[in-house]
Amino acid sequence: MFLLKEKNPILVTGGAGFIGSNFVLDCLKQGHEQVIINIDKLTYAGNLNNLELINNDPRHTFVQGDIADRILIQKLLNQYQPISIIHFAAETHVDRSIHAPDEFIQTNIVGVFNLLEEVRAYWKGLSDPDQHQFRFLHISTDEVYGSLAVDEMPFTEETPYRPNSPYAASKAASDHLVRAYHHTYGLPTLTTNCSNNYGPYQYPEKLIPLIILNALQEKPLPIYGDGKNIRDWLYVGDHCVAIRKILAKGRLGETYNIGGRSERTNLEVVNTICSILDEIKPRAQASYHSLIQFVKDRPGHDLRYAISADKIEQELGWKPEEVFESGLRKTVQWYLENTAWVEAAGTHAYKKWIKNQYQ
Ligand code: NAD
Ligand code: DAU
Repeated sequence: MFLLKEKNPILVTGGAGFIGSNFVLDCLKQGHEQVIINIDKLTYAGNLNNLELINNDPRHTFVQGDIADRILIQKLLNQYQPISIIHFAAETHVDRSIHAPDEFIQTNIVGVFNLLEEVRAYWKGLSDPDQHQFRFLHISTDEVYGSLAVDEMPFTEETPYRPNSPYAASKAASDHLVRAYHHTYGLPTLTTNCSNNYGPYQYPEKLIPLIILNALQEKPLPIYGDGKNIRDWLYVGDHCVAIRKILAKGRLGETYNIGGRSERTNLEVVNTICSILDEIKPRAQASYHSLIQFVKDRPGHDLRYAISADKIEQELGWKPEEVFESGLRKTVQWYLENTAWVEAAGTHAYKKWIKNQYQ
């Protein structure tokens, strides 16, 4: 039987990615005693520069590794004895899942299975009170619910799963595995299904950072199809608060939808970014809007995502603090100020992806 360490370490997976790194930074800011073990494979999307602010913080231990590596996971669990696990690690870009789904199956399904198996064995070996306290929080997406028509009600936790892309299907599979491990083995799990995040440290393959960086480099601003697809945007800091609340007070085995109540068409998002840039960093000649280009649509492109966050709002008293326009302004400002981060993100692999995707 393991005895948990005094400071109740949290094991975070994927903590060098966009949301994971924001969560790690935020968590260490909140709790002076908090200890975090951060395992990340450092795929193209993982970036240690995201964690620069805590480089010398003894409360944070970074381990490069794969969630599918059972020997490593077992070793880390036994060595650090975490009281909770927050699982962010995943392949996350829908367009990449269309070009090459293999890694999505490997990490998002096989990886999650391997992780769950090791976590189950570890949890079984804990003392009764520690088993009781333990939590496995699985971070998932609203894309598992499929696509809404413009006039349909937002997704609730009861909406049937209808994933449409290989990415969404792989996340749906992982959600089902987590559910089964709770139902069958009693593993104390929690699952979140969140809408589109934006904010600092987002890899510039995703719409908002891609548009900001292309605009600053005077490159075309690619909008898939007619730009009328709708996403529900949430500032990443608000997502981190929601995760902390669910970890502290969420009901075991439950899923919680998290969303920003900020539905915007892609064209509205891109126009807003252009207007912010026109104001704070005007171009010499024309407005940034003139860089907008409509390009070939994403195959199977989901029309609309919208989240009903009633459950988390009513049960846990969470509400997003950031308004979309102010959050977007902060985000644009962040990319303008963090030129070293932006330069480092523009690797050869990134340029190759952009070239293949947009030509
Ligand atoms: P991201 O792509 O920025 O980061 C993913 C991280 O996982 C990277 O650091 C990568 O190196 C790591 N990783 C990938 N495969 C791994 C493996 N096999 N083992 C260990 N580490 C591995 O992703 P993100 O946007 O921060 O998303 C984090 C989680 O949140 C994902 O599970 C995603 O499905 C979910 N999510 C994201 C959004 C969003 O808008 N970004 C919204 C809802 C849910
Ligand atoms: O809804 C949550 C999901 O949001 C997460 O689970 C995913 O990990 C995350 O990548 C995100 O998925 P989307 O496909 O919605 O995000 P993306 O930023 O790739 O695209 C947002 C919208 O913008 C989508 O309708 C496609 C469109 N788009 C995207 C890119 C990259 C464009 O029009 N042009 C582009 O160049």
